[in-house]
Amino acid sequence: MVAHIHDWLELLFRWLHLITGVAWIGASFYFNWLENQLDRAAARNREGIAGHLWAVHGGGFYYLEKYQVAPEKLPETLHWFKWEAYFTWITGMVLLVLVYYLNAQSYLIDPRVADISTPVAVAIGLITLVVSWIVYDQLCKSAIARQPMLLAAVIGVLLVLLSWGLSLVFGGRGAFIHVGSAIGTIMVANVFFVIIPNQHDLVNAMKENRLPDGEKGKAGLLRSRHNNYLTLPVLFIMISNHYPSTYAHEWNWVILALIMAAGAAIRHYFNIRHLPQRKVWILPVGAALMVLAFLLTMPEQRERADEITQEPVAYAEIRPVLEQRCMVCHAETAAQGGIRLEDEADVRRLSARIHDAVVRSDSMPPGNATGMTEEERELIDAWYRNPAD
Ligand code: HEC
Repeated sequence: MVAHIHDWLELLFRWLHLITGVAWIGASFYFNWLENQLDRAAARNREGIAGHLWAVHGGGFYYLEKYQVAPEKLPETLHWFKWEAYFTWITGMVLLVLVYYLNAQSYLIDPRVADISTPVAVAIGLITLVVSWIVYDQLCKSAIARQPMLLAAVIGVLLVLLSWGLSLVFGGRGAFIHVGSAIGTIMVANVFFVIIPNQHDLVNAMKENRLPDGEKGKAGLLRSRHNNYLTLPVLFIMISNHYPSTYAHEWNWVILALIMAAGAAIRHYFNIRHLPQRKVWILPVGAALMVLAFLLTMPEQRERADEITQEPVAYAEIRPVLEQRCMVCHAETAAQGGIRLEDEADVRRLSARIHDAVVRSDSMPPGNATGMTEEERELIDAWYRNPAD
């Protein structure tokens, strides 16, 4: 019963997280697109207008204008975009607790990486999120921020360092999700602590008939830009748990760095696509980074496997291994991930997935919880390639 409730809470929060995340990033993509597509030349003949845009959607025509600063009189209803961001973070944190902190031994900790206890792992995880924000925020307020490109480079290097550092304390999956959570926390904190308060300042300035603080406007824009470039990397990390070839790889942090860089590069291309000085070469660079990650994650043949495959292996030989190393989680009573391994027919039917999980990626057993040996993995490999029966 408790497990079932846990399962449904996870379902609910994952669903909510996805919905609010789509709403947040969707709005953010839309406004970014809007900003880039505004017709600025045609709008010049109306005072105070920075640009306008026509669009057709859902069977209706829309006309939109952007003010250079603000309208003379504030409208009665002014729409803000912030709850999507806050709820994405809140549901994400709940999910982090449900999936990773309550199951730390399976998903977060890998004794082959670092044999730490659950409380230590959870503390490292939470501290990572807070410290990442503080470091990032201080950087944005420091002198470096006067050179946006330098600041971006420093943030990029720090993210790679974070990936590397986390890969030394957590299992691959836990390391990846914490890089993603740190980025997500930074993005939401940008909205909560900088972008929204600065927008309030703008609105208040209008109400009080004073000039808005230009510095605040600039700071808000910088944070928005960062959020924009961080979307693609963070979205990859959210789906990365489906791809053990990335997170369970020996060089998982390098692979993550390559994919994050590719995401930021592709985002950059779409940001400047409409400009006359657009740089088309950015797309192939992004693609090249992905190809590099693809090549790096190419599965190696296990060294001794070829010798073993000379000898066919019977199902009866791997059966004790499955019983000893897998059944606790993959039998009738606890069929994790919907995988049941007590029947021979099921094992044969799932042989490719078992091989993927045990031989190609080492993602099973999670964190090698049941202490599977290298010889046992090779035996499964040999059976898969050369079954005797
Ligand atoms: C400590 C519990 C545990 C042990 C032990 C364990 N697994 Fe798993 N396994 C899981 C969980 C949890 C999932 C679901 C993962 C998910 O949803 O991301 C899973 C998923 C899988 C999958 C599906 C992955 C996919 O999407 O293709 C396979 C195959 C698998 N396990 C095989 C094995 C084999 C083979 C062993 C023994 C060598 C094993 N597991 C040992 C917990 C375990």
